[in-house]
Amino acid sequence: MISSCKIFSAPLQGFTTHIWRNAHARIFGGIDAYYSPFMRIEHGNFLNRDINDVKPENNQGITFTPQILACNPVDALHMVQHLKENAYTHININLGCPFPPIALKHKGSGMLPYPQEVSALFQALKSVEGISYSVKMRLGWQDDDDWRNILPLMDLLSPTHIIVHPCIGKDQYKGNLNHDAFTEMVKVSHYPLIYNGNIQSMRDIEEITRQYPSIQGVMIGRALASDPALLCPEKATPDNYRKLHNLIYSHYAATLDGGEHQVLKKMQSFWEMYLLHADRKCRKAIKKATSIAKYEAALESLFNTL
Ligand SMILES: Cc1cc2nc3c(=O)[nH]c(=O)nc-3n(C[C@H](O)[C@H](O)[C@H](O)COP(=O)(O)O)c2cc1C
Repeated sequence: MISSCKIFSAPLQGFTTHIWRNAHARIFGGIDAYYSPFMRIEHGNFLNRDINDVKPENNQGITFTPQILACNPVDALHMVQHLKENAYTHININLGCPFPPIALKHKGSGMLPYPQEVSALFQALKSVEGISYSVKMRLGWQDDDDWRNILPLMDLLSPTHIIVHPCIGKDQYKGNLNHDAFTEMVKVSHYPLIYNGNIQSMRDIEEITRQYPSIQGVMIGRALASDPALLCPEKATPDNYRKLHNLIYSHYAATLDGGEHQVLKKMQSFWEMYLLHADRKCRKAIKKATSIAKYEAALESLFNTL
């Protein structure tokens, strides 16, 4: 069952950067496609870090899909044009972000209660020649029935697939997943679905594909960020975990110009998601380190306990 099921790496803003994607593919692998965290337009401009993250030269040798988040056709077309100029032919549309400052501006999952806005967005996107789309969505913002008004609009976009995280935006990452709604979606969708949400293991993938045999694949976020060897247990060695860490660490050390403190803060935020199964005391020491020397000492202890 698993062999026919595609496995996608979920976008995690601030974590699954091109550095992580390349490191993961090189050391661990097992992913059919990596999705970038969303790019967005702020005050009429792209963010440099978004532009850098989707540069084709930063994503070579991996199957990679850039994602955009927009609340209006103008911004969306601006991003699509940029990606098209960079030779991308497939783009993912974010209708799932639950972060209130974003959702309250009718972006991400905050657009789901407004079918007219989704319709305008899809029509504009479809007008661009040579680009195909996929959509990543939740069931709704506050109401887990919003999707019922959105699914019929998919014909305006003809997405290659729809990635569904079956919960509402208001619940952020805490609420229950609504399997009844996903089951219904599987029945009525004209487009292939990808299941996303709380997959923790190969066994979970087997269970999901058994439960929903017609889905095209699954997408995994936090569990893969925590354990990059989730799909290849034979590669779960301290050496490989260290290698991935070191590629991220050396990138920040070489590119951040705010000195040791900035590198330390970046790495501590990386550990918010990395190796959650590792020794609790060592993880705490890493998060509390006040200097790079203390950080590196805590790191040594952690890798020695793996
Ligand atoms: C810190 C964080 C950042 C995220 N950033 C994005 C993003 O940029 N784009 C997106 O579509 N989803 C984003 N997500 C949602 C994930 O892609 C995924 O849908 C969600 O975590 C559920 O999957 P999981 O249970 O396997 O983690 C983010 C989630 C987290 C926790």
